[in-house]
Amino acid sequence: MYDIDKIRKDFPELDIFVNNRPNTFLDTAASALKPWVVIEKMADMMSSKYANVHRGAYTLSEQITFEYEQARDVVRHFVGAESSKEIVFTRNATEAINLVAATWGRQNLRPGDEVLISEAEHHANLVTWQVLRDELGFTLKVFKIGDDGSFIMDEYLKCLNEKTKLVAVTAMSNVLGTIFPIRKITEAAHNAGALVLVDACQYAVHNRMDVGYWGCDFLAFSGHKTYGPTGIGVLYARYNILSEMPPYQLGGEMVKKVTYEHTTFADAPARFEAGTPAIVEAIGLGKAIQYMLGIGLAEIQAHEMELTQYATEALSSVKDLSLVGTAAGKGGVFSFNIKGIHPQDLAYIINKEGVSIRTGHHCAEPLVHRMGYETVARASIGLYSRKEDIDTLVKALEKAKTFF
Ligand code: ALA
Repeated sequence: MYDIDKIRKDFPELDIFVNNRPNTFLDTAASALKPWVVIEKMADMMSSKYANVHRGAYTLSEQITFEYEQARDVVRHFVGAESSKEIVFTRNATEAINLVAATWGRQNLRPGDEVLISEAEHHANLVTWQVLRDELGFTLKVFKIGDDGSFIMDEYLKCLNEKTKLVAVTAMSNVLGTIFPIRKITEAAHNAGALVLVDACQYAVHNRMDVGYWGCDFLAFSGHKTYGPTGIGVLYARYNILSEMPPYQLGGEMVKKVTYEHTTFADAPARFEAGTPAIVEAIGLGKAIQYMLGIGLAEIQAHEMELTQYATEALSSVKDLSLVGTAAGKGGVFSFNIKGIHPQDLAYIINKEGVSIRTGHHCAEPLVHRMGYETVARASIGLYSRKEDIDTLVKALEKAKTFF
């Protein structure tokens, strides 16, 4: 049984008061709260086990290097990769996508080639390709999604052809909650001769990933959305691709041999981790993933699916509220607009009731515009969210409406 009360005790921030009200945190899609196990693990590493990694022939350095590499293996298991050599630690998912663009992209994309993304991408998976397109002269194509935010296979296939070199798509939209069928997307892309990059930022928090089953070539996610710390993210890349990619940043740790005249580079993943990495953060991420696995990814998913159903019904009952993104099977992200109330005003008022939601374009400005809005409010759930949070949100929204 999913013991939500026990789980909530693992997250100290759920006990605080916000504006003298119990903390109703509904912004997990932006960044998730942290469990004690992560906080304690990181404090322990910094207070009594700290040293640099991969450098010292002394006990402390060897121990923390072991922990750092173990975290990489936990990530390998989490994404379903064959080898931990396919896991590169980055600063966040944005940096992981930038890394692919700057290395594989510069090496492989030419005028006449096409990169295909969806209308549902957030800026990290859009701006990155736009700027590279301007530099290299390839074509960036955007395939349409449905008015309800759904993925439409025909729209995708219409844009896919033998010129497509990369399909870069989200596995779950941070605005709409839509879940994309990555395995089918990958199958079609590979048949056309294209590689596939998956932005799994949102998906990783809610569902089991399996790069083997999906068949994707690259995958990116962020630690801070996955109950881990900020400053750490992950790039998965198939080793035969990763091993051919040139370095991203240059410096210590990513080299094999250096002379004043010439440098040869280390094998992946070290080649992509120049300088001292985010050691404690990587270990914290490993702990966060172990925490999720300890609860069970299937259990988390079942809990969140039930809550998503509940929240969809509860929010739909609010008069003048429009949900933005209602695709079948969507995940626990609820963007909405209430007629006559600016989302910013709404968020401000309900914050007085202790409710935290995000407003704006959610780092996906063209998507919010495509859905017909300048800006929207967004509530989002995590493994610690419960029906009472949704009830509090709905009550606060009803109260806010009385001000207008
Ligand atoms: N992309 C993050 C969000 O959806 C920051 O809020």
